[in-house]
Amino acid sequence: MLKIERLFENNRAWARQHTNADPQFFSRLTTLQSPKLLWIGCADSRVPANEILGLAPGEVFVHRNVANLVIHSDMNCLSVIQYAVEILKVEHIILCGHYGCGGVRAAYGHTQFGLIDNWLRNIKDTYARHNDELARIMEDDTREDRLCELNVLAQVESICHTTILQNAWARGQQLEVHGFIYRLQDGLLHDLAVSITGSEQIQDIYRM
Ligand code: CO
Repeated sequence: MLKIERLFENNRAWARQHTNADPQFFSRLTTLQSPKLLWIGCADSRVPANEILGLAPGEVFVHRNVANLVIHSDMNCLSVIQYAVEILKVEHIILCGHYGCGGVRAAYGHTQFGLIDNWLRNIKDTYARHNDELARIMEDDTREDRLCELNVLAQVESICHTTILQNAWARGQQLEVHGFIYRLQDGLLHDLAVSITGSEQIQDIYRM
């Protein structure tokens, strides 16, 4: 069993390391939080935002959930986006998925896992929307990888469909939404090149 005491030892060593390198490090952070980035990623323990981006505390605002979903009725995620956009005034929102995502794999299959199946249903909807493209992929693993990418794309769009983003753009706020994907095998991030920088890039029906 994991020893909880070990976590405090790790924490003390980590705090000491930061203080040694920069004695004002923590006192500066107590008065100011001004990250330029919002990261929305998977809750998967292997995809930690700060470490992957090489960023210190204070540099990235983070929201994570199973399979990095942005559901239009999820008050938790919407509140994070609203706070990040309107109060922190982040300049970039990164929606980051990852290959080998357990949530995507579960949605891809037909086994029941409980309540979470209702959350992952959103990924099945994405699958259904891209059924023709996915059906043309012969390799099972490749099809699953593509579903991970399509899930990122769907969430990037979902972020941009919110009134939060559209109002920010209408005010003239500079805000870019990006879709990245992370590969567990090599630790590398890839830009899916689906960035959205204004309302004119979203489908007409969603435009406010
Ligand atoms: Co995942």
